[in-house]
This record gives sequence, structure tokens and C-alpha cells, in this order.
Amino acid sequence: MANFVAGVHVAGWGAYAPSQVLTNADLERMVDTSDEWIVTRTGIRERRIAGPGETTASMATVAALRAIAVAGLDSNDIDLIIVGTLTPDYLLPSAATLVKQAIGNTRAAAMDLAAACSGFVYGYGVAHAYVSSGMARHALVVGSETMSRCTDFTDRGTCVLFGDGAGAAVLSASDEPGGAVGIELTTDTAATYSIWIPGGGGARPASTAMLASREQYMRMRGGETFKLAVRKLGSTAMAALAKAGWSLDDVDLVVPHQANSRIVDALAKSIGFPMDRIFVNIDRYGNTSAASVPIALTEAVAAGRIKQGDRIVLVAFGAGGTSGAIALQWTADPANQKRAESIDADSVKIATPDIEPANPFPPALEWLLSGTAPARATTDSGTE
Ligand code: UT7
Repeated sequence: MANFVAGVHVAGWGAYAPSQVLTNADLERMVDTSDEWIVTRTGIRERRIAGPGETTASMATVAALRAIAVAGLDSNDIDLIIVGTLTPDYLLPSAATLVKQAIGNTRAAAMDLAAACSGFVYGYGVAHAYVSSGMARHALVVGSETMSRCTDFTDRGTCVLFGDGAGAAVLSASDEPGGAVGIELTTDTAATYSIWIPGGGGARPASTAMLASREQYMRMRGGETFKLAVRKLGSTAMAALAKAGWSLDDVDLVVPHQANSRIVDALAKSIGFPMDRIFVNIDRYGNTSAASVPIALTEAVAAGRIKQGDRIVLVAFGAGGTSGAIALQWTADPANQKRAESIDADSVKIATPDIEPANPFPPALEWLLSGTAPARATTDSGTE
């Protein structure tokens, strides 16, 4: 890749997961499913749910402040903010604008990026291009999602899969080589409507009829998505490796999008890569869409699975047939992660509009907060 700087490095990283846990046992009380089915078919045991006072922007801000602290920077050092999300607080303004305001940055360009579960990896690619070309010196890339707010908790084919959370990275220009050396971003239109939210956009705007037919919730053709995910994760990772001039033997750790542990198993088999060099944390978070790769990356560093000099591949697949992979050489000192220890959700204040406050917590999960078990919902037979 032609760079105007010697390297664009991951200088900071951070993640945030809300404290409310939704277990498989909780879901057994809501739809016709079982812990055994969910664990064997997906690897998921529990996922996190954003609280009534939390949004995509608030979680993104915690992760962002942590990543900026780990990088040893001030918020105002950031020149570019990209938030990958399919669940922004509002259609307007962008979540990135809210994050910029909340971190106290006055300088950066700020924008959201819509590439679903590939949002963070796509954001990484765009930020790399900005920094390597000299248009930005420090870029903040965030993946943040409140999936619980577009999930149909009567559809057992999707509601067991998704969770909420945020992760972030700061990419910085450096005179030293390292950072991303191979980037591949693609979109396969064969999967355009494999996962979609029909209502609420310009084609099917919000209306009582739209809400009555539950078009505000995500729909998915699971089997079709599964097969395409395995194929695209493999081909995209291999394309990034080819651009880096690396072979699979050179790679110390793959950090994939956490969609389903069986997808990760199938990916490992399809490219002939050992599972013990693939990071998996889906059991505790489920699929957090754009947040999954940066949450996994942050946990991998904290767990000692990434060391200075390691060669890492980040790879994701998502709705709209998006997929992306980054082959990068890690240069930051993992010990810098302790710089973020004092940053928590209380450190964050998102500017609120002058409008009647709403409680965004999913009504289907209100029972979790009160501790009263719900009546089981009538369940669809699975996916669309
Ligand atoms: O980030 C990318 C986004 N999404 C994904 O990557 C998801 C990709 N797809 C998947 O992970 C899997 O396809 C699922 C986990 C969604 C489904 O697993 P599957 O092994 O493909 O199951 P299936 O859709 O073929 O369904 C098998 C059976 C069906 O019952 P019948 O028709 O055989 O009687 C479903 O109705 O399992 C049933 N089923 C469930 N049973 C218990 C579907 N969901 C559930 C459930 N609990 N939660």
C-alpha cells in the first residue's frame, strides 16, 4: 500500500459492555428455545443489554475515552471520528457527532459508517486511508451497537443471537513501520436482503401500519447468511493477507467478527488455520455487530494474546454482504491498557435534545429490570 507516512499504528484500544446480562435461561422464559440449542448452534451463553440510560453514542463514548487514554492522547488530538453502527441514536445527527461532543473534541471531522457487522473494520480501512495520506494524524474508530433495540424478542431465530456493546481504536501516524499492511473491503450483493430492517428508512417510513407489521425489527435468513459468512470471511482474510505479502503461517492471531462459534469453526477448517490462534469471546457477548471485533481485540490484548510485533488479522462479515479484513502488525505496549482503568460509564454525558424524554429499553425485556418472569411469547418458527 502506498503510504505518505511510514506506518499507521493502533495506538489505543478500548471496549465497554453494559452491566445488564441476558442469559440463555432468561430467553428460555421468553421464546421456545433452550440453553442447549443456543450453546450447540451458536456458542452463546449470555449477552449484554444496554440500560435505559444508555445508547449507542454513550457506550461508544466510554470505549472512545478508554482508547484515547490508552494512546496517551487528549481528546482534542483526534482529527477524525468514525462510528460504525447500524443502531445510531438518531437518523440525524450522527452518533459520531454525539461522541465528538461528549469527548470534548472541537477539531475532528465526525461521521457514521453503515456497513453493519463490518462497520468497525470498514471504519478502520477508511481511517487508515485518511492517516496514511496525511489527511489526519490521529483517527478514532468506534464500533457501537444497541442491537437489543432492533431485535424482535418474539423471533427465536434472531433474538438469541445479538447483544449490545462498544469497542474503539485510535489509529496514529508514525515514522516507524508497522500497523496495517494489507486491507481488503468488499460487498457481495448476493446477500443484499439476507439480513435487513424493512421499516423506518426512506423506502418504508415509520407509520402505524409499519409498526403493526413489526418492520422496525431485524429479519434474517440464517442458513443463507451462515454459508455466505464462512465463504466471505475466508476469502476476505486471504485477500488481505495476499496484499500484506503474508502467508497464514505468519499470522499469530485472527480476531474475527463474533457471529456464531460454528461460523468461526467452519472458517478455521475452510482456510486450514488452527482454532487456538483464533480469538473467540462470543459465549459472553453474543453478536454485537460492529462492536464485536474491537471488543474482541481489546479482550485479546488484555488476555496477553497479542504482543508487540505480532501479526494480527481482523476480519468481519455483515448485512448487505459487507466484509472486510485488516492484516496488521501490532506495535503498542499492551501494558498501556491500564491507563484506561479509571474510565467508566459515569464519565460520560451525551447531549440530549429539547424533547420529551423516552425510555428506549426494549419493552420485552422490562421484566429483567423488575425481576418478574414474563409470559412466553408466541414464536415464529425461526427466521424470515
Ligand atoms: O453478523 C452476521 C449476522 N448473522 C449471522 O451470522 C447468523 C448466521 N446464521 C446462524 O448463525 C444460524 O443459521 C442460526 C444460529 C441463526 C440458526 O442455526 P441453524 O443451524 O442454521 O438452524 P436453522 O435455521 O436451520 O433451523 C433449524 C431448526 C428450525 O426448526 P425446524 O424447522 O428444523 O423444526 C428452527 O425453527 O432450529 C429451529 N430454531 C430454533 N430452535 C430453538 C431456530 N432458532 C431456534 C432457537 N431455539 N433459538
